[in-house]
Amino acid sequence: MAPIYSRIIATGSALPERVVSNADLEKIVDTSDEWIRTRTGIRQRHIAAEGQTTGDLAFLAAQRALETAGVKAAELDLIVVGTTTPDLIFPSTACLVQDRLGANGCPAFDVNAACSGFMYSLGIADKFIRSGQSKKVLVIGAETLTRMIDWNERETCVLFGDGAGAVVLEAASEPGVYATCMHADGGYKELLWNPVGVSAGFSDEPNHGVRIKMAGREVFKVAVKTLDSLVDETLQAAGMHESDIDWLIPHQANLRIIEATAKRLQMPMERVIVTVDQHANTSSGSVPLALDYAVRSGKVQRGQNLLLEAFGGGFTWASALLRY
Ligand code: UT7
Repeated sequence: MAPIYSRIIATGSALPERVVSNADLEKIVDTSDEWIRTRTGIRQRHIAAEGQTTGDLAFLAAQRALETAGVKAAELDLIVVGTTTPDLIFPSTACLVQDRLGANGCPAFDVNAACSGFMYSLGIADKFIRSGQSKKVLVIGAETLTRMIDWNERETCVLFGDGAGAVVLEAASEPGVYATCMHADGGYKELLWNPVGVSAGFSDEPNHGVRIKMAGREVFKVAVKTLDSLVDETLQAAGMHESDIDWLIPHQANLRIIEATAKRLQMPMERVIVTVDQHANTSSGSVPLALDYAVRSGKVQRGQNLLLEAFGGGFTWASALLRY
């Protein structure tokens, strides 16, 4: 039997309307636009309005991707949502989005891999398609991470933003996705985490402290090293060389991390999609937001090879090398 591949046929994204600049944050914590820009590359972030949820952003991004694809929700046979900030404990955000889209009946589930949530979801969806189980899949990365930020803590509050991105994947006779890689090492759990959950640290007191904790410098070091070996592994899995890659579309956490990965790939920054200045770190939203920006701005063209990667809490790290 001829092999089946998965192919991205369309992208979409959604950002909250409210934009918060570095100067706005100078009024809240002891920080400066200069510090934030030089250490992270971030200039602004979008922040969800009161009552606006991860599911709302995911739904909008999904609608845009489906409309661009010319695919009706009822045609979908799988929905996977990468998120660490689901609307509810259950049902999953994927189920909530499925109902709003009118795709009722197909399997739908969330994947929690922190900032690697979208990359994990894409890898899973690719395997569903390759196995012949699914033909049209909606993959979303969506977050309202600012909901779990301590706005008094300058080490973390300047880093994050809210947003969502989506892709429609379709079964195809040619790639498409050449290779995906996924990894995790829970031994690093306390370097980047939110130590409150349903079964541990839970309290029904209002605002009882669901907050992100990060040892930034340590995360930075491991991220750079890990992403170096991840891109090598991905090239090898796809049987490609650095020179075969047209665009690097990395997780948007820190411009210095992105530059280090580009250097490892011997890619000039003109071949790297950077949105961290506009969106900050939107966790699972970051790669699909950057991809949608790259497509809609006309940078990424059909037939080009894209290397997507992410690194996040867990630690988790994951990648995909694909022909767009
Ligand atoms: O998406 C998941 C993956 N996450 C990441 O990849 C994040 C990885 N880490 C980072 O991006 C960087 O480590 C940070 C941007 C978080 C921090 O940058 P850094 O260059 O590692 O700074 P640092 O943590 O070593 O702090 C340097 C100084 C400290 O002051 P002292 O001890 O040198 O006096 C901090 O207190 O900067 C201070 N600082 C700030 N100053 C102004 C920390 N946050 C701020 C701030 N404004 N917002």
